[in-house]
Amino acid sequence: MIDLKDTYLNYFKERNHAIIKSAPLIPENDPTCLFNTAGMQQLVPYLMGQAHPLGKRLCDVQKCFRLTDIDEVGDSVHHTFFEMLGNWSLGDYFKEESIKYSFEFLTKYLNIPIERLAVTIFRGNDMVKKDEVSESVWKSLGISEDRIAYLGEDDNWWPNMTSIGPAGSDTEIFYFNSDDEIPQKFDPEDDRWVEIWNNVFMEYYHSEKGFKKLEQKNVDTGMGVERTTAILEGVHDNYMSSIWIDLIKLIEEKSGKNYDENKKDMRIVADHMRASIMIASENLVPSNTDQGYILRRMIRRMVRFARNIELDINEEFITDFTNIICSKYSKYYSELETNKNKIINTILDETVKFSRTLEKGLKEFNKICDILTKQGIDNINGKTVFRLYDTFGFPPELTQEEASNVGMSADIDGFDKYFKEHQEKSRQGSMEKFKGGLQDHSIENIKYHTATHLLHQALRDVLGNDVCQRGSNINTQRLRFDFSFPRKLTDEEKQKVEDIVNQKIQEGLVVKQEEMSLEDAQNSGAIGLFTDRYGDRVKVYSIGDYSKEICGGPHVENTNCLGKFKIIKEEAVSSGVRRIKATLSD
Ligand code: SER
Repeated sequence: MIDLKDTYLNYFKERNHAIIKSAPLIPENDPTCLFNTAGMQQLVPYLMGQAHPLGKRLCDVQKCFRLTDIDEVGDSVHHTFFEMLGNWSLGDYFKEESIKYSFEFLTKYLNIPIERLAVTIFRGNDMVKKDEVSESVWKSLGISEDRIAYLGEDDNWWPNMTSIGPAGSDTEIFYFNSDDEIPQKFDPEDDRWVEIWNNVFMEYYHSEKGFKKLEQKNVDTGMGVERTTAILEGVHDNYMSSIWIDLIKLIEEKSGKNYDENKKDMRIVADHMRASIMIASENLVPSNTDQGYILRRMIRRMVRFARNIELDINEEFITDFTNIICSKYSKYYSELETNKNKIINTILDETVKFSRTLEKGLKEFNKICDILTKQGIDNINGKTVFRLYDTFGFPPELTQEEASNVGMSADIDGFDKYFKEHQEKSRQGSMEKFKGGLQDHSIENIKYHTATHLLHQALRDVLGNDVCQRGSNINTQRLRFDFSFPRKLTDEEKQKVEDIVNQKIQEGLVVKQEEMSLEDAQNSGAIGLFTDRYGDRVKVYSIGDYSKEICGGPHVENTNCLGKFKIIKEEAVSSGVRRIKATLSD
């Protein structure tokens, strides 16, 4: 059996690409983005012209997590955690070589017959003309006109027309993954054609002022490991490939149920378990904010679907599952093996907590049922379903299930109404961050990110250098910064901090980014979290001579675009930790 990841990395290594390490799933010190969603995320500065220490040709296998697809998980191709193979040219080769590499790799190294391949190409828009170069390269390689679809900016522009950052048109490669006869004409809407590889030609930068050409022409490609593995192994369901089959077998064995009759539940359990293990391997624990909240949601959702197949998520199951994941992935992500016990304990603790929540919820549910029955009512209204959820953490799906067990019904539409009303605001904030990646780097976010650095330094100026960042969260409306300090700030101190930040904004300080070793960064006086999560080389952002901080970015180019900074709240988070919320306005 071909080992896809090794074959891919060797292929590009032989063609002078340096193999780089996967960035962590949880981006380092980038509060605008919860998870790493694409291989190019760690390469943004280099796509924009900075020299990469390992050269102009790079490749890797990247851990990715996308919550945007969570509702699709349960079908045969979508996952929350997945791996992406990528090769990059940073101002080196461009369209022709990139397409030829992909074609050669697929047809000669993976032995995929050309009859099963089709491509999409950018058909042009007001700004950029049709990609005739890609068209002629694909045709020269034997891809016929019938197997080419010319699509617009919604399909063949990455990441999209609105995100801030490097961008460009792309050509996507599809594989006909079905036993049916292969249609002569390629229809990208026909889901028997599965996208396996995306070659993006990043020659633009999108800023608040619009698109401008970058000084260098880059290539950024991404190939889905799960999909391509399934194709190579001739299965039409990703979960039947060697990546998943042992995990599905374990679920079958422990639940005593059959995969064919319980596909959706088993796929969700397998997907969420794998994702939770990967996230927990980066030393994260469930909590009620940011990545910790997503981990909590993943584990709890997994437990709920496990209940459907009467699978007990106990220590033995978690240990067996984690052992399989470690044996498959430790070669690429050593943190799995190092943190194995911690991972098992993290998931186990959360499942125990969730069981308690469920127990309490069930007690309350029974009380409600008694009262309603006495009144002759057999429907639990939306408000009550919402209260069970909001106060007792009891999921509405469970209320519905339990209700039907006792011959009652639950008003889920009504619940949705309350849920929307009460949660809209916080949900919007969270969803923005769930999306992750560059999509979240709105101009507002980026401004708040730079303002956070100014605030951090101003706090140290006013309160002393013991002030250290303890947390940071940004949305398009405000920044929130947690820091170590033993007492409430006085009004004068708050005013001083605010004045300094506004002063620095008005000075129009230039924001500069450099890359250096962690040691050099520390010696240069850069502040930062200095956790073991940093790699050997780190990015350091300086704001004039005022602030210097280790950070993933992105930031504005000059502080003069930040507007007016205002502290709106200062409060305690826990003993020794204070929180400031602040806004920017025009
Ligand atoms: N950035 C592109 C993607 O994520 C190609 O790697 O699809």
